[in-house]
Amino acid sequence: MSNHNPISPSDSLRNVRYEIRGRLARRAHELQRQGYEIISLNIGNPGLFGFRTPETMRLAMVENLPEAEGYCHQKGIFPAREAVVMQQQARGVTGVSAEEVFIGNGVSELIDLVLRALLNDADEVLVPSPDYPLWTAAVNLNRGKAVHYACRPENGFLPDPAEVEALVTRRTRALVVINPNNPTGAVYPRATLEALARIAERHQLVLYSDEIYDQMVYDGAEFVPMATLVRDTLCATLSGLSKVYRACGYRVGWAAFSGRTQGAGDYLSALELLSSLRLCANVPAQWAVQTALGGYQSIRELITPGGRLYESRRAILETVNASKYLRLAPPGGAMYGFIGVDRQALPQFDDQQFALELLEQKHVLVAPGVSFNVPYRNHFRVTTLPDAATLRIVFARIEEQLASIAARAEVAGDAKVVNAGARFK
Ligand SMILES: Cc1ncc(COP(=O)(O)O)c(C=O)c1O
Repeated sequence: MSNHNPISPSDSLRNVRYEIRGRLARRAHELQRQGYEIISLNIGNPGLFGFRTPETMRLAMVENLPEAEGYCHQKGIFPAREAVVMQQQARGVTGVSAEEVFIGNGVSELIDLVLRALLNDADEVLVPSPDYPLWTAAVNLNRGKAVHYACRPENGFLPDPAEVEALVTRRTRALVVINPNNPTGAVYPRATLEALARIAERHQLVLYSDEIYDQMVYDGAEFVPMATLVRDTLCATLSGLSKVYRACGYRVGWAAFSGRTQGAGDYLSALELLSSLRLCANVPAQWAVQTALGGYQSIRELITPGGRLYESRRAILETVNASKYLRLAPPGGAMYGFIGVDRQALPQFDDQQFALELLEQKHVLVAPGVSFNVPYRNHFRVTTLPDAATLRIVFARIEEQLASIAARAEVAGDAKVVNAGARFK
């Protein structure tokens, strides 16, 4: 007789989560299949909301398709890597050549590879809370331990460098910075970045700076590339085509290493070995990188007044301002709002419960704050990708849902008072 034991997955996945595409998203998919129209604000996928990749990038890829049929170098095609070098140089980053640039299948793949090449059992990596949860997941998946530093709502979601430094131990190997930030939209001031760079240098931590939203900043917020501030430790700048260039389906990202590359030779060789094991990144889309990074940057039209992303963000800020329950400090960058629910107005609010009810009852899908590794339960994230009119509809539904939670709480509160009264009769 055959033995039908269940197939158990690897223990290495025990602490690995990616809720943004988890249970709620599956339920939304089910409802869609039943014919309901769901407004999905849970994923930053520009293509889903009608944003197009710049035509010149498409043309560059099509033009070069005949050159894209074979594998390419494990670090990526030279013109793409050189374009990244030139962008870094134009920003004032010195010492980067195409040798220090790795092209991957999106930043996602590179997050995994750069950590896998670095970490041993129980090595610690400082990761922001809230974070883009792939960072925490990839640290845990690669045998490390994610140690979260708080970026609190009451501090504009900025980290406190002294608190970050207090978390450094003998086992700390790296510091992750996400700027402009997903999910909060915080754009870190130069002084904060300087302080984080000094901490990394003092403790010889590898600094991973995820700058995938680098050109998405609003109302004069200044984006400062971390690599311009780091001299005495290894700095990896990660970015790609997915957001600023609205080409997330192309699956192209890069990691450019700068700072103290002397002494990092073995690490970079290990990263090259891992890159070789997966042969190369998707080749056709790499041909779009040079066109993307040079010349006119169409993202500017979207992030200035009248532009789609600008106006959507404005719609969110206005509706949140008018809300009885919601709180949001204006996000300086990226394409999200990490919205807080006033604890005094709704003390019993639970982000996961709320997201589920909002989906079932109002057909709006948001990402509960807990998906982003925060210890509190009164936040949710929306993307600003839908147009302003759709967002106003969404926020009217959210307000209705919150009002019904408040009304339920009142009824429950009244019942408690009645019951308490009954006992004393
Ligand atoms: C901060 C951050 N890093 C990385 C990624 C992954 O991007 P890619 O499409 O290049 O894999 C995302 C996607 O949302 C992100 O928000």
